[in-house]
This record gives sequence, structure tokens and C-alpha cells, in this order.
Amino acid sequence: MTEDMRDGEFRAPDWDAHKMNTREPFVELEPLQAEIAIVDATLEALKDAEIIARSSYDQAAFATHREAVRESFEIPWTAISPRQERLIWALNSIRRPARMIAAGVFCGFTFICNAGAGVGPGAVYEPEDLVGLEIKPEEAERAARNVEALVLNSVARVLAEDAVAFVADYDGAIDLLYLDAAGPESGKGIYLEILEAAYERLAPGALVLAHNSVNSAEKLADYLAFVRDPAKMSASVNVILDTEGLEVSAR
Ligand SMILES: C[S@@+](CC[C@H](N)C(=O)[O-])C[C@H]1O[C@@H](n2cnc3c(N)ncnc32)[C@H](O)[C@@H]1O
Repeated sequence: MTEDMRDGEFRAPDWDAHKMNTREPFVELEPLQAEIAIVDATLEALKDAEIIARSSYDQAAFATHREAVRESFEIPWTAISPRQERLIWALNSIRRPARMIAAGVFCGFTFICNAGAGVGPGAVYEPEDLVGLEIKPEEAERAARNVEALVLNSVARVLAEDAVAFVADYDGAIDLLYLDAAGPESGKGIYLEILEAAYERLAPGALVLAHNSVNSAEKLADYLAFVRDPAKMSASVNVILDTEGLEVSAR
């Protein structure tokens, strides 16, 4: 398999054929070694783009994390493919954010893909504050239950709050911001509102991850223009491993 990196984009050759059944998120879509290889190539490209400092991560720790989540989480659906799950965990394990905020976490799966590098089985570092935000109280409750089934009394917390208001008032530097909220009117267009509200609080070298950079590219046009502006962010790569995509940017 030959992957392709050019013009701020990293593309897996089979990205458009890499589709999951969102109601069966743990079904294997490819041999494990193939999944590891494409994520390794992605991390190498992000290192070359100076978004991350190194490309290696603890694969055994990730396997421990993945198994524990699969055993304990209630996930009605998710569009996070196993490739994306591995990539998001690896990016957190490499950047090791003391403070991470994930916006629009639904049932909590995307939150734990990020937070799982710092808490629960397979954790590889000690964070200070890992926050998942979900505007629908019943979904926030389920996400909190899922996290508590995995790890009790940790620095990971899920709150039923509006991400725009929360990040605007957040007291502290944000080391990693994960964006996945979808507003009733603006849809994924809300990413730019959240990023602008958080922007002054982003630590130097902070990572910003935005899911749906491919299948919501139209709604995200203003957001993508913002993160790809070198005056605003130091680097940004559209990682296209599947039909959803993940824009990976650094402050
Ligand atoms: C489509 S879901 C994300 C699912 C995720 N991409 C996955 O595949 O698992 C988006 C979530 O964002 C939440 N949301 C929308 N606006 C929000 C806001 N302003 N703050 C926090 N959460 C929000 C929605 O309630 C919804 O649960």
C-alpha cells in the first residue's frame, strides 16, 4: 500500500473503500498489521510536518486500552473507525496533554479515545484535567457512566455543557482540543466557534483534532481555512484514512 502526502494532506490509498458499519464499531475492517502500518505512516507524516515531536507510541498499552473499552462501553453507534481510534489515542499518548478538552462527545467513545492515553487501563501518562463536553444531558450521563465503568475517581470528567461557553470560560491552558460537536443549525460549522472561543487558551504546540474533515468539508470550509492559515496555526494536515477524515493542526 502506498500512502500519499502532499499539500497539507495525508491520504491512505484505500480511504474511500474504508467504510465501517457505525452500529458495529468493533468489527475488523482489515488485518491488525495493516491498521498499525497506516497509522504508523500517518504519525511519520505528522512528525515530518512538525505537528508532533515523535512518531512512536506504546502499542501494547493501546491494545490494553482498546480491549477494556470494548468490554465496558455502551456504544449505540460511532463513526470513529478502528484506524481513527488508534490514531487519536496515539496522538494523545505522544503529545501527553496535561489538559485536554473534547467537544461533542455523544456516548463518550471519542472522549475515551483521547482521554484513554491518560486514564484507565493502558494509560501512559498522568494528566491534570481531561474534559468531555456533551450538550444533551442524557448523552452526557451515558458518557459519564461509560467512563466510570472504565475508571473511577480519575481526572477524566464528562459534563453536560455547551462547548462554546465552556472553553470561553476555561481557566487554564489547553494542550489538546478535540472537535466533534454538531449543532442543530450550524452542524459541524460550530467547530470554528469553539476554536475561536478556545484560541487564546491554546498552549504553544497545542494539538487541535477535528473529526469529519472529509465528509463535512463543505460545512467546515471556514474552519479549515482558519486552521490552514499559517498566521493562525503553525501547521495543519488533513488526515484521510477513511471516509470521515481528521484534520490535525498545531498551534
Ligand atoms: C454526531 S455526535 C459525534 C459522534 C462522533 N463523531 C462519533 O462518531 O462517535 C455530535 C455530538 O455533539 C453534541 N453537541 C452539539 N452541539 C454541542 C455543543 N455546543 N457543545 C457540546 N456538545 C454538542 C451533540 O449533542 C452530539 O451528541
